[in-house]
Amino acid sequence: SLPCDIYGAAGTPCVAAHSTTRALYAAYNGPLYQVQRASDGAKTNIGLLATGGYANAAAQDSFCAGTTCLITQLYDQSPRHNDLTIEGPGGAGGQDTGVPADALPVTAGGHQVYGASFSGRMGYRDNSTSGVARNGQPEGMYMITSGTHVNGACCFDYGNAETNNQDTGNGHMDALNFGTECWFQPCYGPGPWVQADLENGLFQSSAGGSQNPANTGISAPFVTALLKNNGQNFFALKDGNAQSGGLRTTYSGPEPTRAGYSPMHQEGAIVLGTGGDNSNGSIGSFFEGVMTAGLPTDAADNAVQANVVSVGYGGPTGVTGSLAPSSEISLRATTACCTSDYLRHQNNNAVISTVSSTLDKNDATWIVRKGLADASCVSFESRNYPGDFLRHFNFQVYRQPMDGSAAFRADATFCPVAGKSGQGTSFRSYNYPGKYLRHYNNTVYIADTSGTHAFDSAASYNDDVSWAVAQPWAP
Ligand code: AHR
Ligand code: AHR
Repeated sequence: SLPCDIYGAAGTPCVAAHSTTRALYAAYNGPLYQVQRASDGAKTNIGLLATGGYANAAAQDSFCAGTTCLITQLYDQSPRHNDLTIEGPGGAGGQDTGVPADALPVTAGGHQVYGASFSGRMGYRDNSTSGVARNGQPEGMYMITSGTHVNGACCFDYGNAETNNQDTGNGHMDALNFGTECWFQPCYGPGPWVQADLENGLFQSSAGGSQNPANTGISAPFVTALLKNNGQNFFALKDGNAQSGGLRTTYSGPEPTRAGYSPMHQEGAIVLGTGGDNSNGSIGSFFEGVMTAGLPTDAADNAVQANVVSVGYGGPTGVTGSLAPSSEISLRATTACCTSDYLRHQNNNAVISTVSSTLDKNDATWIVRKGLADASCVSFESRNYPGDFLRHFNFQVYRQPMDGSAAFRADATFCPVAGKSGQGTSFRSYNYPGKYLRHYNNTVYIADTSGTHAFDSAASYNDDVSWAVAQPWAP
């Protein structure tokens, strides 16, 4: 059974079930989300490949071909129809936009689907819900997010919030928060942390606020974040690696001791991607999430985590070693100096290095995607930073999250041609067509031999821009 079947059977039915990747009920066969394309403003719903199955990403690709699409709605799969639309202005942020529909291609259940990748000023909301906890009623919620696309701004949230987009006081929210914002010092480690946004604070425990050494943060590419609250005198937080293993309870105990949180005063709106007052400086990733009526059992939480792990988020694509979309590859340098070196990211930069550790292997593995600016070219998504792509900026190449902008799309698109040295493949920059992907002093640039930078040097240019497309290092 799927997450909402599990929670329903345990007596805590879903009152919200949102996902861009899959059905959350075995019997669901409706739409998952709506996209709108830039070219003519037309909208369409993206549904499932099969009842209880995975998103039909190919339908999105064909509808959005030659233009770009934003996600304009996330449908609620529960019988409550608590659909999320693009969030309007609030006390701390202006009108939001939808997320780019193609920014976060991932594998789930062996299918290529899309997650929702939030840059700043993006969010969704439903201020008029049915069945969601209000005024001290119990509820639970989880979301699948990513530990590699986070920041310290307020507030990447999913859950219960105010119905007027304003901060109406302590206890008026009960939402999951995920990011590196430490609201109450101290926090432990660099984060990101799964926290409870209960309004006017991101809580990790009852004590003042954070001060919870058990919450050491979780930076896995796919993270399960879970919060439950009985609305009166108890809340709990759990986190887990959504690709393997079980959940860890980082807190289970009384509501925060500050005034206003015991009992809670939830208002029953649902927010995704911003704070309760539409504080919208945060970034984040969302694949699926549910909210329940009633306090879920730990057994149900564990069964949901087992189901999530079985999906295999971000696992191997099953296609390797070619430049076809969805294939996983590594790119080996062919210059005599460097034939054991591979293009990998390190500290957000694209460099070449030898590969030995598991981290090296993941950093040196790229998933080929249709070019973000031109589908006849390619873009390279990081294997261990879902939604991050190789892009140039000031002619140097970096690993960065796709923000949906035309500039990013162009900077992240490379057109393969026969290797300039006579071997391998060269990658022409889409927006600087005289320049090719090149390593120089172990750093990666786009370069040509008539440029003025040191990295435009003619010495060994043809070899430096010729790459061997190899089998992926990552398992
Ligand atoms: O509780 C943290 C944030 O504080 C809330 O999300 C927001 O409404 C307020 O600014
Ligand atoms: O990398 C060259 C240009 O530098 C990119 O196109 C742009 O994003 C930046 O200004």
